[in-house]
Amino acid sequence: MTSFVITIDGPAASGKSSVSRELSKRLLCPWVSTGSFYRGLGYVAMQMKVDLKDERKLAELAVSDIWSVHLGVEKTHVYFRGQDVTTEVHQEQAGTVASQISQYPMVRKMLLEPQRRVQSHRGLIAEGRDCGSVVYPYADLKVYLTADSEHRARRRAEEQGMVVEEVQKAQKTRDHQDLSRQTAPLQIPPGAQVVDTSHLTLLEVVDYVEGLARSFL
Ligand code: DC
Repeated sequence: MTSFVITIDGPAASGKSSVSRELSKRLLCPWVSTGSFYRGLGYVAMQMKVDLKDERKLAELAVSDIWSVHLGVEKTHVYFRGQDVTTEVHQEQAGTVASQISQYPMVRKMLLEPQRRVQSHRGLIAEGRDCGSVVYPYADLKVYLTADSEHRARRRAEEQGMVVEEVQKAQKTRDHQDLSRQTAPLQIPPGAQVVDTSHLTLLEVVDYVEGLARSFL
């Protein structure tokens, strides 16, 4: 099979990016963090002093060519006015803003097409919150990663040198927003394979998902 889509959804810090990155190396296909679209938009809106409550302005900015998202081996990159702002966009605070603006139906609608456009003939691994349910509902394999809140907070705190309790508090707010929004909330897509990563190593999770993918590749 030349082209395929694998979606990996789940809450913050459930291991989506790490699993996608590793899997993309094994399957020799690109991967995308769809959260980068929301993070990028939130970051650009803040730089341009756009009111984060102004849905219409945010939706316009979503398709502006002053910023763009590019696939990479290690990370999904975001460029703003020609500058790589990927590091800034991946800070925990940018995640909170991304979650906030991702509530708006108009923003979600405008970001749909750019997310789908990154699909290539070599296949795609896409991670996020609504990849299997909304962005790529026709995916060949849908995975839903989960982990208990303490494990997730610990992982992110270690990655970013932050205090576990602080990260856990921010993630709780984010989880609540992502789960309870009206449009495309975080959910287990129908037909998805659910994997609890709390007590698994990255290698174990990747081996398992690779096994699932190899059955149709
Ligand atoms: O996966 P992430 O932490 O980079 O995502 C940041 C925020 O973006 C997340 O809290 C909600 C939003 N998001 C979304 O609404 N839909 C997606 N497919 C991906 C992310």
